[in-house]
Amino acid sequence: MYICICNQVTETQLRDEIERGSETVRQLRENLGVTNQCGKCGKCVKNCIKENKTSRSDLLIPIACNA
Ligand code: FES
Repeated sequence: MYICICNQVTETQLRDEIERGSETVRQLRENLGVTNQCGKCGKCVKNCIKENKTSRSDLLIPIACNA
């Protein structure tokens, strides 16, 4: 599914770029061109960044401290 119609950027491309290390809207704009024209994709881009951060924190496993 297209996230950014203006630049023909798909959700998969966006998620792949986030996985490669882009963590901000600015970085995604520079690397994929999202939000650089009409800006309607901005909310979706922010949501993808937020979802990625949330899913990463789900992977953290609490470690018991015996100190
Ligand atoms: S939809 Fe992304 S800049 Fe227009």
